[in-house]
Amino acid sequence: MRRYSTDGGDPARRADHGSHAPDGAGGPTAAEGRPETSGRAAPEPPEADGYAVTCTGLVHTFGETTAVDGLELSVRDGEVFGLLGPNGAGKTTAIRCITTLLPVPAGTIRVFGHDAAGERMAVRRLLGYVPQQLSADSGLTGRENVSLFARVFDVPRRERTARVGQALAAVDLTDAADRLAKTYSGGMVRRLELAQALVSAPRLLILDEPTIGLDPIARTNVWEHINAVRAATGMTVLVTTHYMDEADQYCDRVALMHRGRIRALGTPDELRTGLGERRGTAGNGELPTLEDVFRDIAGSGLDDRSGEFSDVRSTRRTASRVG
Ligand SMILES: Nc1ncnc2c1ncn2[C@@H]1O[C@H](COP(=O)(O)OP(=O)(O)OP(=O)(O)O)[C@@H](O)[C@H]1O
Ligand SMILES: [Mg+2]
Repeated sequence: MRRYSTDGGDPARRADHGSHAPDGAGGPTAAEGRPETSGRAAPEPPEADGYAVTCTGLVHTFGETTAVDGLELSVRDGEVFGLLGPNGAGKTTAIRCITTLLPVPAGTIRVFGHDAAGERMAVRRLLGYVPQQLSADSGLTGRENVSLFARVFDVPRRERTARVGQALAAVDLTDAADRLAKTYSGGMVRRLELAQALVSAPRLLILDEPTIGLDPIARTNVWEHINAVRAATGMTVLVTTHYMDEADQYCDRVALMHRGRIRALGTPDELRTGLGERRGTAGNGELPTLEDVFRDIAGSGLDDRSGEFSDVRSTRRTASRVG
């Protein structure tokens, strides 16, 4: 049985995934030592291409709004990949397509080689998802919430009790497991949602703003639990966040999305160094921050529409107040 451990995590751990690949391609990095999944076995990928996710030409529209506009994205097996971008960039829409919750009207998505349009159940069995919106039921206990997900995600009946207990333990909620979720703090609720997503032992964990609104200690705590499970299982993590410091510290690679497309991709260091070189400040000891890179991309007038960046900044100020 695949077990979660909370003692093997190093929050600062970063895998070495080689060099920057601007087109989203690059050498595949297979996670080493991945334990076998038990019970409802995850389907074997039809091709071992080294990627957890590949999106090619993905388009998704809501009426007149093109939320995702020809997205090209590759997430390597085993990495922590951060999808950043201003409000409305299309991050959640892209993620909901990857999770098969939204259809794929144009383009293709593959999750460990499985087509998200044609093999939806195979894809769903491979992933865990913490949505941007609250997904825990406040009227249920922590244990009941995780049990519900175990049933929905088809964890075999005979394994459910143990797997629910392991998932709760992995996020340090054993002691609070039988309290109603409405008595939890914000950080505990987010950890509960993490347990819900982990109970199916996913190969790919997708987190949409997992730390929004949490205090700095709770944010670190959530990341420590993510990294502990990752260290134990080798799972891939795809995460969105508006906290640039988190992306810098915890992500192997980040992509900056703006108006439905990826505008920059690389390791945090590569993106910061790249901006320093463009500004001619590289080498003077003052490397730009990831926030500078974000401002540069989101405010650079990449298309003919302008005036959005001040809105983004004001939204982010609001978010930081909430946080
Ligand atoms: N269900 C929906 N119906 C109509 N429009 C939508 C819907 N969901 C998203 N949109 C629009 O699609 C665009 C992309 O939204 P999305 O939620 O994907 O952005 P995001 O990058 O996740 O933003 P945020 O950082 O605020 O979460 C926005 O213009 C949004 O208004
Ligand atoms: Mg979103």
